[in-house]
Amino acid sequence: MCGIVAYSGKQDCAKLIIEGLKKLEYRGYDSAGISLQKDNKIITLKALGRVDNLEILVNKEKGQCFCAIGHTRWATHGKPCVENSHPHNDCHNQISIVHNGIIENYASLKAELEAKGHIFKSQTDTEVVAHLIEENLKTLDFTHAFCQTIKQIRGAYAICALYVKEPGKIMVAKNQSPMVLGVAKEGVFLASDVPAFLEHTNKAVFLEDGDIAQIEGPFYKIFDAELKEQTRKVNEVNWDFTTAQKGGYAHFMLKEIHEQPQSAQDTLLTLKAGLKDSFGLTKEEAKKIKGIYLVACGTAYHAALCAKYMLEDYAQIPVEVETASEFKYRKIAFCKDWLFIAVSQSGETADTIAAIKNAKAAGLKVMSVCNVLGSTITRLSDITLYTHCGPEISVASTKAFTSQLVVLYSFALNLSFALGHLEKASFDKFYTSLEKLPKLMKQVLVQEEKIKQIAKKIYAKNDFIFLGRNSAYPIALEGALKLKEISYLHAEGFAAGEIKHGPIAVIEEGTPVLALVAKGPLEEKMLSNCQEVKARGAALITISDDMALTDAVQVPFEQEFLFPILSAIVLQFFAYYIAVFRGRDVDRPRNLAKSVTVE
Ligand code: F6R
Repeated sequence: MCGIVAYSGKQDCAKLIIEGLKKLEYRGYDSAGISLQKDNKIITLKALGRVDNLEILVNKEKGQCFCAIGHTRWATHGKPCVENSHPHNDCHNQISIVHNGIIENYASLKAELEAKGHIFKSQTDTEVVAHLIEENLKTLDFTHAFCQTIKQIRGAYAICALYVKEPGKIMVAKNQSPMVLGVAKEGVFLASDVPAFLEHTNKAVFLEDGDIAQIEGPFYKIFDAELKEQTRKVNEVNWDFTTAQKGGYAHFMLKEIHEQPQSAQDTLLTLKAGLKDSFGLTKEEAKKIKGIYLVACGTAYHAALCAKYMLEDYAQIPVEVETASEFKYRKIAFCKDWLFIAVSQSGETADTIAAIKNAKAAGLKVMSVCNVLGSTITRLSDITLYTHCGPEISVASTKAFTSQLVVLYSFALNLSFALGHLEKASFDKFYTSLEKLPKLMKQVLVQEEKIKQIAKKIYAKNDFIFLGRNSAYPIALEGALKLKEISYLHAEGFAAGEIKHGPIAVIEEGTPVLALVAKGPLEEKMLSNCQEVKARGAALITISDDMALTDAVQVPFEQEFLFPILSAIVLQFFAYYIAVFRGRDVDRPRNLAKSVTVE
């Protein structure tokens, strides 16, 4: 998972790399390191924990530097410690390497290199790459030695390398881990994600699997391991740099919760343009779809679960939802006339990518719902429907989740119309309701203080139960996930009808139960479940769109299908304030990284 930032060009770059790494800390923050190329030397500095610790070391360095590689680590091979931090060097500190991913055949390569006299200093899989380049440099120049090394390693990687004898040159390779070039006037950035360089340039070149690039800022060349030149498009990223800043909020998570009306608005506006062509499917193609596989991980999986209700209800089409990590290892009797939809904020989640590849191999059409332009998942997909959230920095996903639902709901309405299950008048009515979402979200956001005060009363509890029915059930799961992630508390979401079958046993005097009570046919059933837990001593908090419920946190009612989105915002605030009251590091929760690019 890890984040990489590198630069070669005319600007003094140590500070640029540090600032870039700070933007990528969501990818891991076990340790950070940098290699600065200056005065015919490579100076490597490393620090445990946050990039701030590395910055202290970098500030002590004198002189300018115009070429450097940096890394923020999420440990996979080898515990978090200085020796295991990147960059890694060869035996003679001639080569410096940063890597994101896993080198699968590192053990056998390491054994071969040790037999040749190489001495390893870390327990990482990455170090093997530095030694392998050193070995290949015995007979080849840097570019060829790097390409040869790439041919010898197996696994997922984005790797950047410096060589002491070729100052100003960075070699980079990509396979199954993200790597994007930021092309600025005076130099070229390399990064795992666009926000790392967005302040300096919005011109991004996304490398593809198998690409190798040679950077000598401001110039770059892209080729494959056989040095065959490759042409890659220069994309203009339209994210505003300020959206990658905290903008006065205490945490990115809080800022991103508040950005939801804007994200929903931007997403809806772009979807409207896509409505005309049925989101890339012709009416005939839409009619041929007999079912949908919806696959994702974590929060995106909850969005997929929620969308299943809408798709089955409105488009009357069978939908199977599964976590990508299960889907990819299951022998599936694929139905060829089913559409495969992957949902992912980052577009780089390894499990989701693997699931897409399985679906493609089975001949299925692949659609993705994604936030990151040019990411791996979008490139693998036949059709991509974008969420327009801008960069989501907080590890806990918020605005991406609600925008994913906006896209999937919009798609469900559109499909239902294309399949003849919705008349034009009904379609227009429902779509108009969906378009009111940004305004309705604002009505939830203004209740922040009320929700904060409720959170203050319950934050010291250790177990939390979330209940919902129908499409609010995935929101109960999502509410519990948010709380677990950032406050490290035990939280579980249940389908309210299930609690009598076991989970109600855990409820005791004062256990907080957050119940999602949606207006509609199941409201009474849900209220009965509320009474059941209350009778067993639960501290009940209801979140409802029924104005008749007096104690509830009220969300506005427009259409039943909007309740999950609006109530999710309430649970995001709950999770946020409970974590804040418990003194947690909200944006950088322990053990987590935002983009899970390893299996
Ligand atoms: C939770 C969270 C994760 C992600 C999951 C999938 O707040 O952010 O559960 O939702 O890792 O990530 P993407 O959507 O990038 O594929």
